[in-house]
Amino acid sequence: MKNLSEKKLDKLLKIKTAGVRSSKTKQNYRYEATPYNDLKLIFEKIKLKSDDHFLDFGSGKGRVCFYVHYLFNSFVYGVEANPLTFDDAIQNTKSYYSNKQNDQKVTFFLTRAEDYQITSQQNIFFFFNPFSLVVFKKVITNIKKSLKVFPRKIIIILAYPIVEYVSYILEHTTFIVKDYIDAKDKTEKHNKFLILTNNLKKIP
Ligand SMILES: C[S@@+](CC[C@H](N)C(=O)[O-])C[C@H]1O[C@@H](n2cnc3c(N)ncnc32)[C@H](O)[C@@H]1O
Repeated sequence: MKNLSEKKLDKLLKIKTAGVRSSKTKQNYRYEATPYNDLKLIFEKIKLKSDDHFLDFGSGKGRVCFYVHYLFNSFVYGVEANPLTFDDAIQNTKSYYSNKQNDQKVTFFLTRAEDYQITSQQNIFFFFNPFSLVVFKKVITNIKKSLKVFPRKIIIILAYPIVEYVSYILEHTTFIVKDYIDAKDKTEKHNKFLILTNNLKKIP
């Protein structure tokens, strides 16, 4: 995909994902989409297959899910707690499929990420700083439980990860850093992306 502008990519996908929506609670952070230019970078590095199951925790208006489905035809799931933002994702699903057959591979859930029951097939998890460390720990614990019940190779993608997420995951889990994408600007505090995976021989 060429370096199209934010607006042009929304138009190409027939979705509306721009803007910011603030949050009323301290634990849940605001809506803001991952820039398409950075999605392009990460999904040039990580190529999904059509039978991969990708989950965005705090999926907002669905940008990352639609982009992944568009590129790879994978199964994609979005979990979103804000009803208004979830409704936007549902509207986007209608317009995304308006000129093509709905293959039922895009699904959004209106629920808190920490309450979402991870399925045995889901294998790629994406986080763009959706919530506080308290909630992040609960979600990571749910991923670890799911791996105990259904051992499988997984990938966790952290976008612009806050230091609390990185310290927690490196100090309190056996997930290992597989790769990363640096921020171009060296004064930036965060990497653009951190990519982690699990060692199947170790309990996460
Ligand atoms: C920074 S936005 C990221 C949106 C999208 N993942 C993207 O990268 O384009 C974070 C989203 O997480 C949602 N969120 C915050 N806390 C949540 C929670 N506990 N469970 C599910 N979604 C949550 C917010 O409403 C917001 O839409």
